[in-house]
Amino acid sequence: MRGSGRGAFIAVALAGAISLPGAAVAAVPPPAAVPPPTAVRPAVVPPSAASRASAATEAGTGGGRMLARTPPMGFNNWNAFGCDVSETLIKETADVLVSSGLAAAGYKYVNIDDCWSLRDRGPDGRLVPDPVKFPSGIAGVADYVHGKGLKLGIYGDAGTKTCAGYPGSLGSEELDARTWADWGVDYLKYDNCYNQSDGTREDFIRRYTAMKAALDRTGRPIVYAICEWGQSQPWLWATGVGQLWRVSGDISPNWPSLRTIIAHNAPLAPYAGPGHWNDPDMMEIGNPGLTETEQRTHMSMWAMMAAPLLIGTDLRTASATTMAIYGNREIIAIDQDRLGVQGAVVSDSDGLMVMDKPLANGDHAIALYNATDSLATISVPAVDTGLRRAGAYRLRDVWTGRATQVRSTISAAVPAHGTVVYRVRPLSHPAGVAPAVTVGANLATLIPGPTGATLTTTVTNRGVGAISRLRLTARAPEGWTVTATSASTRRRLDTDASMDTTWTVLVPEGTVAGSYPIGLTASYAWGPRRRAGSSASEIVSTVVTAPGDGRRHLSTVPAVTSTNARGPVEFDQSNGGEGDRDGSLITIGGTVYTRGLGTTAPSEIVYYLGGRCSRLVTDVGIDDEATTTIPATFTIHADDTAVATSGPVSAGAAPTTLTADLTGASWLRLVTTGSGAGGDGTTTNDHADWAAPVLSCGGAGPDDAVQPAERALFSFESGTEDWVFANPEGGSMTQSTAFHTEGGHGLRVLTPASGNWFGKALAEPLDLTGTARLKFDVKTAATGTTGEIAVQVGADWSWCQGGRWAWTNPNSSRTVVEDVEDIECPAGITLDLSQVRAVWVFLNGGDVHIDNVRAESAVGTAP
Ligand code: GAL
Repeated sequence: MRGSGRGAFIAVALAGAISLPGAAVAAVPPPAAVPPPTAVRPAVVPPSAASRASAATEAGTGGGRMLARTPPMGFNNWNAFGCDVSETLIKETADVLVSSGLAAAGYKYVNIDDCWSLRDRGPDGRLVPDPVKFPSGIAGVADYVHGKGLKLGIYGDAGTKTCAGYPGSLGSEELDARTWADWGVDYLKYDNCYNQSDGTREDFIRRYTAMKAALDRTGRPIVYAICEWGQSQPWLWATGVGQLWRVSGDISPNWPSLRTIIAHNAPLAPYAGPGHWNDPDMMEIGNPGLTETEQRTHMSMWAMMAAPLLIGTDLRTASATTMAIYGNREIIAIDQDRLGVQGAVVSDSDGLMVMDKPLANGDHAIALYNATDSLATISVPAVDTGLRRAGAYRLRDVWTGRATQVRSTISAAVPAHGTVVYRVRPLSHPAGVAPAVTVGANLATLIPGPTGATLTTTVTNRGVGAISRLRLTARAPEGWTVTATSASTRRRLDTDASMDTTWTVLVPEGTVAGSYPIGLTASYAWGPRRRAGSSASEIVSTVVTAPGDGRRHLSTVPAVTSTNARGPVEFDQSNGGEGDRDGSLITIGGTVYTRGLGTTAPSEIVYYLGGRCSRLVTDVGIDDEATTTIPATFTIHADDTAVATSGPVSAGAAPTTLTADLTGASWLRLVTTGSGAGGDGTTTNDHADWAAPVLSCGGAGPDDAVQPAERALFSFESGTEDWVFANPEGGSMTQSTAFHTEGGHGLRVLTPASGNWFGKALAEPLDLTGTARLKFDVKTAATGTTGEIAVQVGADWSWCQGGRWAWTNPNSSRTVVEDVEDIECPAGITLDLSQVRAVWVFLNGGDVHIDNVRAESAVGTAP
């Protein structure tokens, strides 16, 4: 669910007044699928032995042979392309799958997602492939894909329309299944939008079984992927109906999304098996938003959970790293192991998880998964796994290929958000195999200056037999010092013994806040012949600096850490869903704010103040986007003291103002807690907003301007302020009170279908020197709109433009922001901000409300 690029760039020099170029018409992205409310986690009751046995025989029998005996592997275009699907893309992807070797590694389904058909069925009632996107039809593409030895997947919907508004199959199951079979389709992903459902599980079973029956009647083996986002807990009923079922809402390429889906899917292990798999959604490896460590965790945990492996990135332009992650044969072998068991959670506490997946040859894949934000040593006694008892075990790290041995405890120091996967088997002759030696560490946040911070390290020998001549060294960025304050060498370290060392880390004054690596390397001798060995870990240290002097919007101050119940904490918008930047303008009891932090309780956002700040003033409340009426409590902590609290705040209530005295505090923590059952503070859907928080530091006075300063250019208080449209396609404008973020009015714009530029030519040049960003607020009922801003500058009215694509969910609002440095002018023209002759915004999407077109100054400069 995402937009795909901004409107086309137009740059035309204009002489005189406004006869402007054709509007930039951006491809309108599909409407977002209605996100499922986060399912209440069921008590997982493993299916009975009887039902498992019947599943094994019934599940996925197409023409008598089991379909998806191992989890399906392939490609789906949705995560990387959304609605922008075409025959060319599918064929080229098939080509790359084969030429890259990924097809040989098992990726054989090439799956088309939503938006492949015309908006209307044909005269015979059949679905019609869009002839522009698929000139050869789906049948032609199927032939091509089959010719490469691959299989073709398609997408349909168990409702009246697909999520993007194309025809759904509810009531047309027979005809559609027959059509797909006639075309040579091998895989169906069957979605759940516009489902007309009464919400009961019976209804889900009815709708999804109707298609299963229709597919069966075609006689063609078609893998059936149920996609109802986990709403009716399909793991409880869909074995024997589909070969896989989504367990959750849509994945997004960000860490909170990955973490949440893993946490949700891991306990569902008992429900998966050959021909019936839990589906935690298509993969995001290769898409911007995940670190390399997180991408390897994605692949590792999907394999451990026996998940379908559907590549979700553009393979034609994928990097070598992306290809290597998708193509790791050892991890694929774990996913595809013919025993077909989803890894079980052995332990899961404080964000550290151990998962155990038995494999057909008797090995076990053991994953050590670190969902926390710092390096952690994760260990599990082999006896706690399904491995048989032995005097030693051999561990093969499937990412490094390195083999080590342990006597009894499987362990690794795992980076933040990382996963170590070992393929483990009993080992009778450990003598020739290097011992597993872990290097763990703990380090507080670093503050530049003379005080320094303490680093503690622990080296542990898990191997059979002692290691000797152990020496631990630390490597820090240039200019830093890391000094051991206790022993960092040992003559001998026995099996399961540890060496603890403390160090002082000094960071030079002036170091910029951010993340910096510190490397730790243990070197030692092992085995009877004293062979040289080494083990290394890297800690990512966080350097923090206090905010500068003055009053500033807290949403522009970088947080040190944040946790949130739903997706990432959002800045200057509400929480929205699981995705990044998918909220609306913060709105509490009808009051709209353009600044603030959008969370879903429970959440915590931490800032470093360094004792330099005095006050935080903020409104708080439940966002109007909340769909339940669960109250949340807002608390401001200065160091360990709660200095202001709201008490429970309910949905619909007017905003409350909190004022917190922060004098002398090193740390500021903003905490929201829910009121979930049992009072544990866990609940979701209460969309708790910190609205317009302002932080005062360094002796700032209460009347100082809040940074970054903004200067309103048009706020429509006196009418339309003589705005006009630029192109003949027209549109209309009226002053409105329906949406406004500055004063009591905004502008309602009815745009033509292809959009238009709206704005004003200025009789006198406007001086916007010092402007860092141009902004305006927009609200639209439509499912997508562009937000672009253009200015005309200089005596020849040169037309410079840029801007960011602004995806809006239906009925959502946001601030469109354009950094001045991203504005592009025609060749030979420089953007002279002292000579602005006109200001324009591009709008499409029908009925649009905007307000407060403004210029934001760089921090520290006056508006
Ligand atoms: C969602 C589905 C996505 C994608 C999208 C297409 O419901 O979960 O994976 O298929 O619809 O509109």
